[in-house]
Amino acid sequence: MKFIYSIVLSTLFPLTACSMRDHTPPTYAPGLGEIMSLSGMRHVKLWYAGQAKNWQLAAYEIDELREGLEEASKFHPTHKSIKTPIAQLISSTMDKPLGQVEKAVNEKDFSAFAIGYDSLTAACNACHQMTDFAFNIVTKPEFNPFPSQQFHP
Ligand code: HEC
Repeated sequence: MKFIYSIVLSTLFPLTACSMRDHTPPTYAPGLGEIMSLSGMRHVKLWYAGQAKNWQLAAYEIDELREGLEEASKFHPTHKSIKTPIAQLISSTMDKPLGQVEKAVNEKDFSAFAIGYDSLTAACNACHQMTDFAFNIVTKPEFNPFPSQQFHP
């Protein structure tokens, strides 16, 4: 009980709890799975932004995807039994399709966007296959799970 109470306390008051136990607070690094879950969310939002021809929002989601992937290689230069460095896997799979979608967004070209989006999705899955996470399959979303965000410009 005391243990559970201290977990609750340290969650609510991290600094207080740490000074009580007298050690420096740990720096938080998101797990690769967490970064990927966010990437999954942005991948979905990117589709609905593009479909609504909200190019500003689409460009934003591309930036967020890039930032997330940068964090993935910064916090996880290697991961589990994956032999190739994460940064190398990311640049070899993501650079080209992200550039392709970005170009379509800059040119406000929906058909190029749709093609680029499919290449991006395929590239996400290519990395999952190369890293023995092939069971994590990303698809083009079939419905919009974000009811509280406006996608049309
Ligand atoms: C480095 C290559 C790599 C790239 C590129 C990559 N992934 Fe991943 N992804 C992984 C790995 C490795 C995992 C499993 C991480 C773990 O151990 O939890 C994963 C897991 C996931 C998961 C499952 C997360 C969960 O907890 O359910 C999702 C969703 C996901 N990726 C989405 C994407 C999307 C969307 C893209 C493309 C925009 C992408 N990934 C690109 C390597 C990659």
